[in-house]
Amino acid sequence: MSYLLISGTDISNQIYGEIRERIAKLKEKGIIPGLAVVMVGDDPASQVYVKSKERKCKELGIRSETIYISDNITEEQLLAKIKYLNSDPMIHGYLIQLPLPDHMDTDRIINAIDPKKDVDCFHPENVGRMLVGDHIFYPATPGGVRQMLLRSGIDTEGKHIVVVGRSNIVGKPMAALMIQKGMDATVTVVHSKSKDVSEFTRQADILVVAVGKPNFIKADMIKEGAVIIDVGTNRIEDPTSPKGTRLVGDVDFEDVKDKVSAISPVPGGVGPMTICTLMDNVVRAAELSIESGSK
Ligand code: GUN
Repeated sequence: MSYLLISGTDISNQIYGEIRERIAKLKEKGIIPGLAVVMVGDDPASQVYVKSKERKCKELGIRSETIYISDNITEEQLLAKIKYLNSDPMIHGYLIQLPLPDHMDTDRIINAIDPKKDVDCFHPENVGRMLVGDHIFYPATPGGVRQMLLRSGIDTEGKHIVVVGRSNIVGKPMAALMIQKGMDATVTVVHSKSKDVSEFTRQADILVVAVGKPNFIKADMIKEGAVIIDVGTNRIEDPTSPKGTRLVGDVDFEDVKDKVSAISPVPGGVGPMTICTLMDNVVRAAELSIESGSK
């Protein structure tokens, strides 16, 4: 069976074209969208994410500020920084890069973010708004997957979408978005305590996998003609690569590719879409700041 390759690189470039037009309109009104990223400590993976966010902002003409904070900062000091960002009119949206050091209460920190500036869509108010279908922002990864399906012409109405993984960042919001009116899917979420993961994945018309296990999904776990969205980004050792490592998804691409009707690759699939949704949210936050009367 030949398959459609769902390229997050191509789809995100299409969306960036639209985002650039919105940024130009904001600039005509004297507004430059501004994003701040708060990075506590020096987690190497987080540093890579933060740098790619900075690079994308620069490319698009979004003002970006990365605030590096030592990991021995107290929770109260971080809360004071958040209070400042909530009131800074140049910053339309910001995020606190996770994971935070162990001595911090992540929920308390997220709760302190002004929901209007919460471009990660992590604040409970925004999570609730998304659940009732009255969102202001989309969560970055599930919002990106939604666009991949919509812009690849994959019909979700009445389809059985199986989401593997139940994280607050991907699995849970993914399921919430797919049952909304407009997407109209029937959704099953399976997770580490599910009795027989394959029993469910084999029923999926569309399978979204976010478990962080390299090459976890094999051909015998999917239905013929399924659409596969691979959210995993796992770095594995590869002596044949110059770096000695390479990125692979949660789906064994080579094993499943002849059985699927469409599949997203890793890299070049969900990854570029995640940052694209974040950029979209920053521009949306700037647009909303006009509607609410502040710049
Ligand atoms: N760490 C890994 N992914 C993310 C993300 O999407 N947002 C934040 N704030 N931290 C992360």
